[in-house]
This record gives sequence, structure tokens and C-alpha cells, in this order.
Amino acid sequence: MSAVSIFAPAKLNLFLAITGRRADGFHDLVSVVVKVDFGDTLRVEPAESFSLTCDDPDVPTDETNLVLRAARAFAEEVASEGAARGGARFVLEKRIPMGAGLGGGSSDGAAALRALNERAGQPLADIQLKVIAAKLGSDCALFLQEGPVVMRGRGERVEPLGPGAAARLRGRRVLIFKPAFGIATPWAYARMAAEAPASYLPVADAEARLAAWCDGTAPADALLFNNMERVAFAKHLALPTLLDELREKFGLAPRMSGSGSACFALLADDAPVADIGAAIRAAWGESAWVREARIA
Ligand code: C5P
Repeated sequence: MSAVSIFAPAKLNLFLAITGRRADGFHDLVSVVVKVDFGDTLRVEPAESFSLTCDDPDVPTDETNLVLRAARAFAEEVASEGAARGGARFVLEKRIPMGAGLGGGSSDGAAALRALNERAGQPLADIQLKVIAAKLGSDCALFLQEGPVVMRGRGERVEPLGPGAAARLRGRRVLIFKPAFGIATPWAYARMAAEAPASYLPVADAEARLAAWCDGTAPADALLFNNMERVAFAKHLALPTLLDELREKFGLAPRMSGSGSACFALLADDAPVADIGAAIRAAWGESAWVREARIA
């Protein structure tokens, strides 16, 4: 078996409505999620057993990493179908910052599933890969679906966004930026639960808002929404302070992605990216991470 290299893109939640808490402790949500042309690279080489190395020493490479969890789950599923087990040496080039709401770990896990399946001659169907992905993490299954998606449930129900709506998003330029600190997803959801019901958007309202944008002709900026901003912004004032400044100075419509701390803004072709980047660094310091990308 030869080596395979797979691109693992970052994601952005253009629309994220947390609609309520479920009996199992997870939250229900309605979200429009896009992948961008920026991300990690996962290389898979033949080996007897599973192992993972990464160029970023801050990334845990033990069994908690979603790449190895995905590999174990894949091997189990394939073995249960009677096919032979095999190992793999994973080499991860990490580019997506962690604790950002950009789905880096989940994307790596989904990339591992795709790579292992491709290398083994596609023993598992797409739907089987999606079932494994959904068990790995709420944000994992979306990376197995091409193009912009709508995500529901706790994140495991993923369907492509309609073609007209997707066309308003694909190819759009976007600036993604993150302060030095990250936000832990479980903390953000726990804050949402503590502030319930004020923190939630009723599911009927979320669906109506989404349908109005999908069925209409409004531009991408009109879709942007994230009701997790409230809890994140209350704790981290540096986020709303900068976003307000970007609105006032540059006429941008910036938002936080997922549970943060990364934020993003769609860019017009003539946007003064260097000036915007300078404003971000002036507010958040030189350790701020800034990256331009396009929606895939
Ligand atoms: O599924 P994942 O591992 O990404 O979730 C991390 C944590 O975020 C969960 O343990 C849960 O506390 C919270 N979460 C949630 N509702 C979701 C997704 C995540 O409450 N839909």
C-alpha cells in the first residue's frame, strides 16, 4: 500500500443557532458551515500499527487525538466486515490553530477516515464513514460532505446547502483571525446552559431565519449569525471591542466562528487587507493569528 496525503480544511460557522439543551447534555443546533481553502495536511504511510507525529509540539499525539481515534474506529468497522486490519503512520502538518472554533481536530479525524478508506480501496460506504465521524465528535461529519452544508441535531445531521444558496458563498474571500487565547468548547456550552433560556434561539426562529436567507437573494453577509458570541464576548472583551472597531472603520460584518475564539469577516475584492490586519494586531497584539482564505 502506498502513502496518501489528504488536505484537512478549516471550517467556519457562517450561521450558528444553538436552539436548546437535550436530555443527553448536548445541545441542538442549526448551522451553516463552510470549509475554506486553508487547513492541515495529513499524510498516511503504511505501517504495522497506528502512530501519529505532528510538526506542532502543542498538539497531543496520544490516543486522545481524533486522528488515532478515527483510525481505531475505522479498523474496528472494517474488521467487523471481515476485511483485514492494517496499521498506519500518520504525519500531521498542523496549520489550523486550536481552541479556535475552526474545527481543526475534527477535520483531521475526518481526513484520517477518508485516507484510510481510500488506501484500502473504499471498503466502507460514505454513510458508514459519516456514522463513525458523528461518534468521534459533533463537528466531524460535516467534513465528509463536499461544499457548504447545513448541520442540525448536535451536529451529526449534515446535508448540502441548496445550490443557489451555496453559490452565494463559494469562492468568497474571507479574513480569519484569532487572539492568542483559545476558548474551550465545553466551557462555552456550559455557559449557554447556565444562561438558559435567554442564550438559546428557538428552533422555529432559527429555521425561519435560515429559510428566509436560503430562499431569498440576500448576500452572504446577511446570513451571518452566532448566538454563542454572547457568552464568549461577556468573558473576553477583546473580541467585541475589536469586532466593533472593524465594523466602524472598515464597514465589515465580522462574526465569531463556532465557540471561538477565532473570528472572521467576508471581504470585498477591494478590501484593504493590510490595514485590517494592522488593526487586528494593534488591538490583540503581535501574537494575533491572521489568515486570508476563500470559501471552498
Ligand atoms: O462533540 P464534541 O466533542 O465536539 O463536543 C465537545 C463538548 O461540547 C461536549 O462534551 C458538550 O459539552 C459540548 N457540545 C454540546 N452540544 C453540541 C456539541 C458540543 O453541548 N452540539
